[in-house]
Order: sequence, then structure tokens, then C-alpha cells
Amino acid sequence: MADYLSSNVNKVTTNVLQRMRNEGEKIAMLTAYDYSTAKLLDLAKIDIILVGDSAANVMAGYKTTLPITLDNMIYHASSVVRAVERAFVVVDMPFGTYQGNSKEALHSAIRIMKESGADAVKLEGGEEVSESIDRILSAGIPVMGHLGLTPQSINKFGTYAVRATDEKEAEKLLHDAQILEKHGCFALVLEKIPADLAKRVTEAINIPTIGIGAGHDTSGQVLVFHDMMGITQQFSPRFLRRYSNLGEEIITAVSNYIHDVKAVDFPNEKEQY
Ligand code: KIV
Repeated sequence: MADYLSSNVNKVTTNVLQRMRNEGEKIAMLTAYDYSTAKLLDLAKIDIILVGDSAANVMAGYKTTLPITLDNMIYHASSVVRAVERAFVVVDMPFGTYQGNSKEALHSAIRIMKESGADAVKLEGGEEVSESIDRILSAGIPVMGHLGLTPQSINKFGTYAVRATDEKEAEKLLHDAQILEKHGCFALVLEKIPADLAKRVTEAINIPTIGIGAGHDTSGQVLVFHDMMGITQQFSPRFLRRYSNLGEEIITAVSNYIHDVKAVDFPNEKEQY
């Protein structure tokens, strides 16, 4: 790997991420929800591991991210944290644990940090969640924002289509990004918005932006691990680049195992005591 600023750090922190943004080094973020995957991502030197509430979809099989609970997220996050030495670990605050009541938001964020040992929390929304952000930050907990397609609001939008395609929504998103920066978020996820808008937002604020389906002008990129590795096979939006076809490899390996067991080929003499 080339000699990047991040190659020489033993632990990624919010300061390292800000320096990467300032010096134009792109930030690489992926999701993980378990110990073994997080260990591999950390060994590969990923900058940020997101314990996303997408765990509701890819781990638990729910149609939306809404049902996952705070206890579920803490379980996933603590499994990840036990594996990680270098990456910065961010945990999604699940639906219903921060909206509308900033005291509850603080309580939820403190539980995540105390019980999992993560480095930061992430929550969805703009101006409407700024009071919760203030309170969480007052306890010294770093907060990552998330604008554009915000899956916890799927019932309001009714679709996972590209967001902020008209100027009014684009202006609102830009305004929200500035508010999140002003309130002290250390970084911002921009999900499924036009590349031009993501560029405008990235140029208008001084904290890192991490895009997913938002073009290449953001300060970094994030993908869901199961999607980029081809484990989830039905989901193939335009923004998704598959780096492996693990789904098919697993099916082939399992079929071979079944065949070997049934043919009494496994275990062989060398594989027994
Ligand atoms: O939950 C998640 O995985 C996310 C990413 C898609 C950014 O929020």
C-alpha cells in the first residue's frame, strides 16, 4: 500500500480523520457487526468501522432498519470493539433512541460508549436532531451525522430513491450539513445524493464527508461489507461495486462439504484421531 498519512498511525482518531480530510487523503469506511469480520477489516487497515444499523437487514433479515434495538446494537458493537486495535469504531444509534428527546439520546449514547467501548456514535437527521447532538457532545462523545437517504425515515419517504434531486431539498441538505458542523459533528455521511451536491456540501463545510452513492468528491467512502463482498446477492444499486463474490464461493464450498459428507469422503484417515 502507498505511504498514506493513515498508514503510520497506530490508532485512528477524530484528529487523524480531520487531518486526512485537510490533506486530501480519502477515508475508507466499511460496516462490520461481528468479531471475526472486524478483525479482518482492522488487519487490512480500514480507517473506520461502522457498526451500522444495517445489521437489522443483513444480520437479522428485517426489511428496514427500524426494528433493531439498543441492546442489539451494543451486542454487535462490543463484538467489533473486542477485535479492533487500529480502526475508529462508530456505532449507529438505532431508531427511537435519540429522536425528539435529547435526554434519552444522551442516555442511549452513554450506554453505547460504556457497554461497547466504541469511539463514537452516528445518528440520522439534520437540524431536528441538533439538540440531541448538543447533549451527546456535552458528555464528550463524538457524533457522526448522516444526511440524504436516511433509512430510519423510510416510512416518511416511502422509497429508497436518490434524495435531494431538486434545488429546494438540496438547499435544505446543505443547510443541515452546516448546522451539523456548527453543532460539533466530527464527520458526516452523505447517502445517495447527486454527486454535484455532495461536492458542494464537501466544499461548504470543514469536517470530513463520507459518501455512499454520492460520487467521488466526498472526503471518503463507505459501503456495507456484505454488499461489497457479494454476500447479499439481491441488492445491486448503481453505486455498489462488488469486490468479491463470496456468496457464490460460500454456496460452492458448502455444496462440496455436503457432497463429501454424504460420499463418506470427509473426514478421511488423516482427519481423524
Ligand atoms: O447502517 C449503515 O450501514 C449505514 C451506512 C449505509 C452508511 O448507515
